[in-house]
Amino acid sequence: MDTIILGIESSCDDTSAAVLRNTTLLSNVIASQKVHEEWGGVIPELASRAHQQNIVPVVHKALSDANMTIDDVDAIAFTRGPGLMGSLLVGVSFAKGLALAKNIKLIDVNHLLGHILVHFVDKEGEDIKHPNFPFICLLVSGGHSQIVLMKSHLDMEIIGKTIDDAAGEAFDKCAKVMGLPYPGGPVVDKLAQKGDPNAFTFAKPSVKNFDYSFSGLKTSFLYFLQDKIEEDTDFIEKNKNDLCASLQKTIIDILMKKLIKATKEYNIKEIAVAGGVSANSGLRNAIINAGEKRGWNTYIPELKFTMDNAAMIASVGYFKYQQNQFIGMDATPVTRQSEL
Ligand code: KG4
Ligand code: ZN
Repeated sequence: MDTIILGIESSCDDTSAAVLRNTTLLSNVIASQKVHEEWGGVIPELASRAHQQNIVPVVHKALSDANMTIDDVDAIAFTRGPGLMGSLLVGVSFAKGLALAKNIKLIDVNHLLGHILVHFVDKEGEDIKHPNFPFICLLVSGGHSQIVLMKSHLDMEIIGKTIDDAAGEAFDKCAKVMGLPYPGGPVVDKLAQKGDPNAFTFAKPSVKNFDYSFSGLKTSFLYFLQDKIEEDTDFIEKNKNDLCASLQKTIIDILMKKLIKATKEYNIKEIAVAGGVSANSGLRNAIINAGEKRGWNTYIPELKFTMDNAAMIASVGYFKYQQNQFIGMDATPVTRQSEL
């Protein structure tokens, strides 16, 4: 019998709802919040207010796009964390209210596992290849940079993580220093395509095992620009493309070095990438090229699945449903991954 899952995502600044029939995507509605752009970063209070406004129409549209009503839904899967407390509270409370009113099962989802399990979302009439277990996933977003060993759908082991900033944060903070709009990652990506990646070199960290560090890069980038601006106040404007290309190359080199190290250590050739930064064209190419050279099977998500979305949350929901992993009305949001 088919299982219908309604997924709800509200961990940061995207309100999203999606419907899956088993692993097949029927709808995926995302309302992105533009309000943060003028502030140069996500303002938590504004994010929760926007979620509050968006959640009802977004869920409504996801159900109607899927040609379903709430009575067709077997379980509601919601992001429990990690994320911003005010944002999470909107999705969690809405999911609980709906589940209680309609007597539907509830499933709590780890947002980061969601990013990874987006690789198991199918589309009607398309033959999508899924990673085989065990696989390694480079999970890179605005809040996290991790190397994850996936042993089964619900068994993830974090083998490397950032000890300070995330890769997305490095993109965003360095972009801000250059006066680029928020979020800086996509803008840097675009400008980098017209620049020379070897024009400038920036500090690369030395961190143990499979861990990452990006705060040193951010500082080195800032000091480098301050020195150059002293010599020429138009330095950034004149070198924007080269700066973006060199910055992007440095971040990708840092990410790839530890990823390759992990694949060798664990002797795994099934390699996936996920999270907001996996939209980066340079990173996508670097993984494809490394895969061709090293005989990996690589799994690169469709662009619309790199950003926060509820299809990935519903995907985790489907696999938890198969294992009867439900949660009760006592479910509370958690801001940190370690609390999950
Ligand atoms: O996964 P995500 O949507 O939200 C979090 O859970 O954090 O990731 C957002 C991050 C932001 O830092 C954004 O700048 C970055 O992903 N990002 C990119 C690109 N598109 C989004 N970074 C580099 N290149 C891109 N094309
Ligand atoms: Zn995310």
